[in-house]
Amino acid sequence: MDNRLFFTATQKNRDCIGDVLSRFLPKRGSILELASGSGEHGVEFQKRFPSINWQTSDPEPSHRKSISAWIDKYGLSTKMPQPINIDVEVKPWPLTPTLISELKRVVCINMIHISPWTCTKALFKESGNLLKKEQLLMLYGPFKRNGLHTSESNSLFDESLKRQNSTWGIRNLEDVNQVAMKNGFTQEAVIQMPANNLSLIFRMS
Ligand SMILES: C[S@@+](CC[C@H](N)C(=O)[O-])C[C@H]1O[C@@H](n2cnc3c(N)ncnc32)[C@H](O)[C@@H]1O
Repeated sequence: MDNRLFFTATQKNRDCIGDVLSRFLPKRGSILELASGSGEHGVEFQKRFPSINWQTSDPEPSHRKSISAWIDKYGLSTKMPQPINIDVEVKPWPLTPTLISELKRVVCINMIHISPWTCTKALFKESGNLLKKEQLLMLYGPFKRNGLHTSESNSLFDESLKRQNSTWGIRNLEDVNQVAMKNGFTQEAVIQMPANNLSLIFRMS
């Protein structure tokens, strides 16, 4: 049985997200990806950055099965660890001591608008506990700026998210920055991405 899931957006955004990662990833060490979804990003990034250890995770069992299936499909099972079950709100995150000591970056793509705001707070709090000084937390997704949508398509997307779940929605960049600051991060970069998305880089201070 093929457990692979196909999230169409990953085909479109993986190269440009990979280009941002190439500027901010270390040469070696472990990267923890939260909300890895289908796993298509994870295997691409493991292939593109072979000297790092890409650790995927997701709370949804079918997503973890898909990630494992993609790891097999790419022939990465001896190189890349199996996904772990992390719900950002369930703490502590179940990381091994080795992963904690080798951890250099936390990456979270397209999660904070598809989960309650409490997840954004939990993401920064636990990442802040895990990352050492100068290490980075990297987010990707759509954001509002000064409370305003940056495009008509983001505004429509926000409405459709809220119809699905009233606790979801596109977050305001300034609110995200405040949560980051409260947890010891400073903003390193805001990078405009295709299709009205942003990459946000936060440095642990
Ligand atoms: C839109 S998908 C994005 C998946 C992938 N990062 C991508 O860009 O294709 C959102 C993901 O967030 C995960 N997610 C939702 N709530 C979460 C939580 N509380 N903790 C961690 N992941 C969560 C879902 O299981 C899902 O895989």
